[in-house]
Amino acid sequence: MELVTLKDVLEPAEQGCYAVGAFNANNMEIVQAIIEAAAEERSPVILQASQGAIRYAGLDYIVALVKTAAKGVNVPVVLHLDHGTDFLQVMRCIRAGFSSVMFDGSSLPLAENIEITRQVVDIGRAVGVSVEGELGKIGGTEDDVSVSEKEALFTDPLEAQRFVRESGVDALAVAIGTAHGPYKGRPELDFERLKKIRELTGATIVMHGASGVPDDDVRQGIALGIRKINIDTDLRQSFVRAIKEFIAANPDNIDPRKVLAPAKEAMKNIVREKMRLFGSAGKA
Ligand code: G3H
Ligand code: 13P
Ligand code: ZN
Repeated sequence: MELVTLKDVLEPAEQGCYAVGAFNANNMEIVQAIIEAAAEERSPVILQASQGAIRYAGLDYIVALVKTAAKGVNVPVVLHLDHGTDFLQVMRCIRAGFSSVMFDGSSLPLAENIEITRQVVDIGRAVGVSVEGELGKIGGTEDDVSVSEKEALFTDPLEAQRFVRESGVDALAVAIGTAHGPYKGRPELDFERLKKIRELTGATIVMHGASGVPDDDVRQGIALGIRKINIDTDLRQSFVRAIKEFIAANPDNIDPRKVLAPAKEAMKNIVREKMRLFGSAGKA
């Protein structure tokens, strides 16, 4: 199929009260693992590329890989820019063929974040590309900050109301206690805050840093309005673990395809599990 927008997959998710997984891709094997999992689970899927992924693989390679993979399957596929912090980079992605972009202005003052996000939304609307914005700061688990410092970075529900109203975003990434990277302990999610944000904004909410979030918390988040769930670390870990295991078991192998095949399979299994957990399996 041709690529579709975030709106195309998140509106049915809203109706059906499930979430669609957004999986980070950096190379061909990861793209194939995600797309094959989506086809086998009959699930809509969001493939996302970060600015780092674009630096690594090249913008045109990412677009060509994902478009080629999407053409071969009969499930809706979104190509989304993850954490675009630079307006011009966002424009380059739109021009190159992304069907959805995130403008991450979370480090900017509120008014500036609203202003630039709104410009991206205006341009996205004109050319049929959906837009995710971010309010509040989703840190990394490696960031050395205390609990009270973390809470100070959480999304303020009233600011979120203003942000959504004035920017017009299709989806809102929120800081409610998740973080990028592997968690040291069990993450403490602020579900009350999520509930309030949802009530005040009515927005389609995005959970970042979802690798390592316990399944029950994921389900509760979905019940409270999470509709897009970002997974990267779980894929990275399974990829590297499978490669290490293969090399340990086959020290004389020199064929890269043999090294990467189990890594692809391991990622595919993770994506399939997540699609079932998020409730998107069987929805395409
Ligand atoms: O949110 C960040 C994603 O895991 C992408 O990470 O910028 O290292 O590609 P990256
Ligand atoms: P994890 O790497 O923690 O899964 O987070 C992914 C993410 O939020 C990408 O934007
Ligand atoms: Zn993220």
